[in-house]
Amino acid sequence: MKRLNIGILGFGTVATGVVDLIKENHAEITRRTGYEFAIEKIFVRSMDRDNPYGLSLTTDVNDVLMNPNIDVVVELMGGIEPSLSYIQTALDHNKHVITANKALIATHGNELFKKAAEKGLMLMFEASVAGGIPVIKTLRESLIGNKIESLAGIINGTGNYILTEMKEKGRSFEDALKDAQALGYAEADPTFDVEGIDAAHKLTILASIAFGIPLQFDKVFIEGISSLETEDIQYANQLGYTIKHLGIAKYLPEGIEIRVHPTLIPKSELISNVNGVMNAVLVKANGVGPVLSYGAGAGGKPTASSVLSDLADISRMLDADKAQYVPYLAFQNQALSNAPILPQAEIHTAYYLRIKAVDQPGVLSDITHILAQHDISIELMIQTKSVDDNLANIIMTTHETKEHSILESLRAIEALANIRGKAKLLRIESFRS
Ligand code: HSE
Repeated sequence: MKRLNIGILGFGTVATGVVDLIKENHAEITRRTGYEFAIEKIFVRSMDRDNPYGLSLTTDVNDVLMNPNIDVVVELMGGIEPSLSYIQTALDHNKHVITANKALIATHGNELFKKAAEKGLMLMFEASVAGGIPVIKTLRESLIGNKIESLAGIINGTGNYILTEMKEKGRSFEDALKDAQALGYAEADPTFDVEGIDAAHKLTILASIAFGIPLQFDKVFIEGISSLETEDIQYANQLGYTIKHLGIAKYLPEGIEIRVHPTLIPKSELISNVNGVMNAVLVKANGVGPVLSYGAGAGGKPTASSVLSDLADISRMLDADKAQYVPYLAFQNQALSNAPILPQAEIHTAYYLRIKAVDQPGVLSDITHILAQHDISIELMIQTKSVDDNLANIIMTTHETKEHSILESLRAIEALANIRGKAKLLRIESFRS
């Protein structure tokens, strides 16, 4: 029996899932791959922990990174350092690498892939995006005959859990976040979840693989959900929309849009019905059309399922010619494109606006006049009276326009004498057609 000798860095939720899944499914894995997946060594911070299978643990990371018996190092520690240095050392010692570390791939992937290519090694990261959903492999391999036009994903389980709780149960943002932390979904620093950084890491990776561009995390527009108000969730609902925290990437002739923000989606669309901690990624490709992948975006065993898929790929390529390896970012390394990433002001979409105004004649006509001056067409509008301050709440949706036009209009509207406070702006997307 051929063995794939595995070293693991970290023994948290995902690593436990990997160990459990290998033990549980070893016969199936061997039937499929022809290999026994053998866990040679696990690097832990402390030996004082549960070890139900009696695996070989070490607190010396070099027992994994420099171990001559290990073929693949699986990094499941998260964070940038020391994970980055450990992966570099593993590559230096000719180990193939698997990681679930989205932050690391999004911000240091370009240099790591360069090093892996120089060493002729595989560096796989299916588990870094959307947990158990096989979205990297789908984009990189299954859709290879297509040109990817756009993708949109609910790619942070914590954020989706919070929005679902706020909408379905009218709970406050803070309450729902506490739950998500207690359930173990949130990142060590939950601002990564609620401010969209975690989703932006994942979107950076997806956009690179979809369009064949280098990883460019610093160019992603990021807006979180922490400033979302229950009021807007309710108005959006009245207007026929659900608000989801989406990562969106679109390939346009003038450049690429890459953005993470709360988004109104028509309730009738499948992705607007993805609730709780579940993730979904909708890809639009020119041959197949839309493809929607749905599943658990976080958690031990679901994420481990993606790690095992990378282990299986590595086992199949261990003795192969290196030229046959699947390219790291789905496109040949020398064929990555320098298509520009569009500044957020240049994106083109529809908008939801909520404006507070003194309820007097002429206020509405002043607002619509400014929008007309910027060539912005209103789609629909409702007005309610706020009990607290007796002000009118004017809620409107617009047809598609450039973001800079809507921002310029809002600055002019906010400067009107009868307008109170800052206007609320949210973006609308529809994926039908
Ligand atoms: N904190 C992440 C989430 C974990 O909630 O989606 C999976 O990447």
